[in-house]
Amino acid sequence: MIMSVIIDAEKRLFTLHTRNTTYQMKADSLGSLLHIYYGERTDESDKSYAICMKSRGFSGNPYEMGRDHSDYSLDVLPQEYSCYGTGDYRISALKIQNSDGSFAASLQFKEYQISRGKYAIPGLPAVYAKEEEADTLEIILEDLVSEVEVQLLYGVLFENDIITRAVKIINRGADRIVLQKAASINMDWINGDYEWLTFYGGHARERNIQRDALGHGIHAIGSVRGASSHHYNPFAIVCERNTDENKGACYGFSFLYSGEFLMEAEKDQINQTRLICGIHPDNFEWNLQPGGQFDTPEVMMTYSSRGFGALSRNLHKTIRQNICRGEWKEKRRPVLINNWEATYFNFTGEQLVTIAKSAAELGIELFVLDDGWFGKRDDGNSGLGDWFPNEKKLECTLKELAEKIVGCGMKFGLWFEPECISEDSDLYRKHPEWAVMIPGRKPDLSRNQLILDFSREDVQDYIIGRLSSIFEETPIGYVKWDFNRSICDKYSMALDMLSQREFAHRYVLGLYRVLETLTVEFPHILFEGCSGGGGRFDAGMLYYTPQIWCSDNTDAIARLGIQYGTSFGYPVSAMGSHVSAVPNHQTSRITPFSTRSCVAMAGTFGYELDVTKLSEEEKKMVRQQIGRFKEYYDLIQYGEYYRLQAPTDSQCTVWEMADPEGREVLVSAVYHHVEANVAPVIVKVQGLNAGASYRMSLNMDDMGNIQGWRRKWFEEHMPYGYKNEETITGAALQQCGLVIPEALENYQAWQIHIVEV
Ligand code: DGJ
Repeated sequence: MIMSVIIDAEKRLFTLHTRNTTYQMKADSLGSLLHIYYGERTDESDKSYAICMKSRGFSGNPYEMGRDHSDYSLDVLPQEYSCYGTGDYRISALKIQNSDGSFAASLQFKEYQISRGKYAIPGLPAVYAKEEEADTLEIILEDLVSEVEVQLLYGVLFENDIITRAVKIINRGADRIVLQKAASINMDWINGDYEWLTFYGGHARERNIQRDALGHGIHAIGSVRGASSHHYNPFAIVCERNTDENKGACYGFSFLYSGEFLMEAEKDQINQTRLICGIHPDNFEWNLQPGGQFDTPEVMMTYSSRGFGALSRNLHKTIRQNICRGEWKEKRRPVLINNWEATYFNFTGEQLVTIAKSAAELGIELFVLDDGWFGKRDDGNSGLGDWFPNEKKLECTLKELAEKIVGCGMKFGLWFEPECISEDSDLYRKHPEWAVMIPGRKPDLSRNQLILDFSREDVQDYIIGRLSSIFEETPIGYVKWDFNRSICDKYSMALDMLSQREFAHRYVLGLYRVLETLTVEFPHILFEGCSGGGGRFDAGMLYYTPQIWCSDNTDAIARLGIQYGTSFGYPVSAMGSHVSAVPNHQTSRITPFSTRSCVAMAGTFGYELDVTKLSEEEKKMVRQQIGRFKEYYDLIQYGEYYRLQAPTDSQCTVWEMADPEGREVLVSAVYHHVEANVAPVIVKVQGLNAGASYRMSLNMDDMGNIQGWRRKWFEEHMPYGYKNEETITGAALQQCGLVIPEALENYQAWQIHIVEV
């Protein structure tokens, strides 16, 4: 049994080891908990010698150090959890307003505790692990004046190279205090020039990558939209300048939180870098009465000295195994068809059953009825909140419809948007006080809808009750949980004046309570998260919904970039991805059918088009695609993911899924356009056994549109290695590379299966 926490009690030195990384901190003579090291695995010797003590003008000195210690300043020392107001002028983790109105905290080491297993956080998502897989270190700090106790929690998952952090703040004093900022993590680097990768975007173009130098000044990303947002993902990578996919040092920080967040970094006067991540303080305050406790959400950290690829794989594995929960964590997920882009709001019950029948004949396993099945809902302007089936439109009860679909041999799934309410709804007419708005002001509308006040327990209970009745009455196997606007006018009629700034966080806690109750109560239901696509694509949501609709943009070429960016922080098994019709509804682009399926297979895989309108040839292709997806299922969903060529810097995006033993690999390549007389695309395959021999097969179904002499010519001129009898060694494929066949048409995709012989 490996104990990954090593403590030198006398020196008050704490070292955390994972298989490839080490993290160290130390309480100094004043009791300040200093951060010393995080990076490549090393020993547990005291590395605090590397912290240079030197007097810096205008960087003050704690009173307790006396007159002779002008070299000791909190303004330049690397810290584990920095405080606002007491001599550290950099961005800080904790800002408290004390009962006397002052803004000050100063934390001193009190004690520590180690335990086997991974801590949990009440009411919040958190990485979990078997007792033998993780250790927890708890370091307790206190502010002697206000008697506030701060417990720093560290969860160490040795094999995954993951360290998690969260903070518990307890008011042990006699007076109320107010938390104005309570970040989840403070990370200080005492030297180095860093850059960071952040993931920005908007609706239908999520998670583009931006790489910026962390030069002097404050750099920040975040969300004040009530949800984690399309605009900045709550995930960032801090790296050294030369770091790329396969080499160099990098640190990943993934926030397990679905609400407003702030990730900020500052390079200070002596070139040290600090990163702070937590709930966004703009719309946050928490009143802590005597004895009260506040738990911050968790940050999951990982370090890799082997570039972004290894970093992503650490996160993929941990999200799959230690964040996603429930029956569907390991279970094979069904190939689905969703009616949204096939019908939008305009459908009849009969039409749905016809689509479902036709889909079932093609091998599709789950039919999802999207928006428009309830209340008065024929467009986006009304009905939200009225979660009662529209039997006139369905031409039967919901149960009967579900039974007809189940009768076709499929599972039945249903769309909900439980957190929203239309002004034109019975629920709003009955409970206007349940809508989020500021009394006396007109609310900001978005998609003509309002937010339901999930910070209220009565609202949470109502939604739990309403959805539970539908789940109990109807044979439902899947739920799409959508959320289609940002939150402003933040105000709850159930909170008093002093607590209004608690609203945004209370909303997220309410959402988590509802999701926890429903997912535990109905474990057979596969929940898919969604927020206008990927507007709430975060590791917090994945604790409740093991997959999330990646984007409302279903264009295969646009998806290359969206899924590429998403893959830095999240596994393929989390990315909802569908084959849709052409011209594409978001971009009007026309791509080959095989390209659309190749891209959707880098996700949970399904269809979102009217299958009754497909040609016989296309229907044949659907059957082949499903067969192929099922054949490669384990490789795709549980394999090691490698980004071989980025959509941004080449003519062709290439990625790979490898079985962890290196016996089988699926390489997928999609050309961004077709060109005459192009240079060949050669990629270095990864994760193979160097000494083993491999046979490669090119999927000729991907030549769907290419017939006649071109097909014949292509088959005769196959690049080296694709002829059946040939084998190539792993070493050759890894070092010399694999030749990707050229594009024969615009947006050509190839899937190459490589198997050890
Ligand atoms: C936004 C989602 O992302 C779409 O897939 C669809 O469910 C619509 N909402 C329905 O209103």
